[in-house]
Amino acid sequence: MGEEEATDDTVVRRDRFSGGPARGFLSSLDADRRIFEADLAVDRAHVVMLAERGIVGDDVAGEILATLDDVEAAGHGALPDGEDVHEAIESAVVSEVGPEGGRMHTARSRNDEVATCIRYRLRDDLLRSVETALALRESLVESAADHTETLLPGYTHLQPAQPTTVAHWLLSYEAAVTRDAERLFDAYARVNRSPLGGAAFAGTPFDIDRDRTAELLGFDGVVRNSMDASSGRDVLVEAVSALATHAVTLSGLAEDLILYANRGFVSLSDDYSSTSSIMPQKVNPDTMELVRATAGDAVGDLTGLLTTLKGLPRAYNRDLQRATPHAWDAVDDVTAASEVAAGAVATATWHAEATTPAAGEGFSTATGVADALAMAGLPFRTAHEVVAAAAPEVEPEDDVATVTARVDAAAEAVLGESLWEYVTRDAVTRVLDPAESVASRDSAGGPAPDAVASEVKAARESLAADRETLAGRREALAAAAEALDAEVASYV
Ligand code: ARG
Repeated sequence: MGEEEATDDTVVRRDRFSGGPARGFLSSLDADRRIFEADLAVDRAHVVMLAERGIVGDDVAGEILATLDDVEAAGHGALPDGEDVHEAIESAVVSEVGPEGGRMHTARSRNDEVATCIRYRLRDDLLRSVETALALRESLVESAADHTETLLPGYTHLQPAQPTTVAHWLLSYEAAVTRDAERLFDAYARVNRSPLGGAAFAGTPFDIDRDRTAELLGFDGVVRNSMDASSGRDVLVEAVSALATHAVTLSGLAEDLILYANRGFVSLSDDYSSTSSIMPQKVNPDTMELVRATAGDAVGDLTGLLTTLKGLPRAYNRDLQRATPHAWDAVDDVTAASEVAAGAVATATWHAEATTPAAGEGFSTATGVADALAMAGLPFRTAHEVVAAAAPEVEPEDDVATVTARVDAAAEAVLGESLWEYVTRDAVTRVLDPAESVASRDSAGGPAPDAVASEVKAARESLAADRETLAGRREALAAAAEALDAEVASYV
């Protein structure tokens, strides 16, 4: 088949490279559905720039741009066959406009084109993931505001450690999700640079304006080195790494909720639970189990991406085609998990009647007794020794008076002195009460209700600021898209 005899199969790939048994293996056309809109935008910006620079005539530019509107209206499913979306859209343009349509591909390559499309699309996806992370923060902080006094046993090594509150626990995740969102914003800043105009990797003799296409596409600048522009995928690693980090945060949150549900501390709402097909009484935290599992997928995507990129030589290699879907999978899975976690936290019911007695179990107030002795002047290590000597004697059913007597006996044994040489009975009674124990730990970021209340206030402020940053990023993209539409309209 000759150059002029284009078929509806493809008008771009011809002769020797029209397909063969590996055609399906080579093609990314299905996966490229994700960047169909991005490619149209990139085509439009490129054609507008080519016309502005006098590289293509305004008439041809107008015909190409009008055809791109038709291609968009028909949708990805209507594209002619092609090795990828870039080739298929070009084929569609050429079959409509004729050979002049082929001017669209002047001064670029699919290599800089695909790199630009990925970044263009990933921007939106990253902002969506930031949005869900911020919604999760709102759930965590508002739920914390409701539970500054709801006691909760705090664990280390999954053993009762010290009493804390539900709010303090919630804010520990809020802080982590805040950093996750920061990392997503950071990734966004580096993703939002335009590789367009790098061409295959080696630039172009045409007098193009890379800053102009970057501006038309809403990028904050260009990826300057043309070889870096077409081959670099480190920004995907950065984005997927931020997503995987967020997924790991979510997995811890999910695991805690599963454990707390197991102990009857919390119930997930029916919307975030499942039941059993045989055991009618079951209310299972399935959503949290799936959130927990999402970390496995995200880490898998990060590993797949890094492994694909490792040792790739400069400049473009087709391996890169298989790197991209890891980013889409990670952003979809992690964003969905984050959204579900936000809903589950917001609608969960905490059971103070279960958490309050549990908060003091396992002599979890012991550290408070040692702290009281140390505050009275004993070296902390000695105070620790006294309470450690009492600890094995303390039984779950002991009341405050019994525990106090055991600590006093330990003081006699370790120090040769009575406990009352150091502290009052009142002070010991106070620290043995889980609520008082929590209230006493009012150091910055500690669980005392007052300390938590000021953290809630700070968290709300930082959330509002991040929401503004997000809105600003979105407005910038919307303004660029509008400006590009206006430029296109002036040719069509
Ligand atoms: N479909 C390719 C990808 O996703 C882009 C095209 C570049 N292909 C090429 N043979 N140079 O990376």
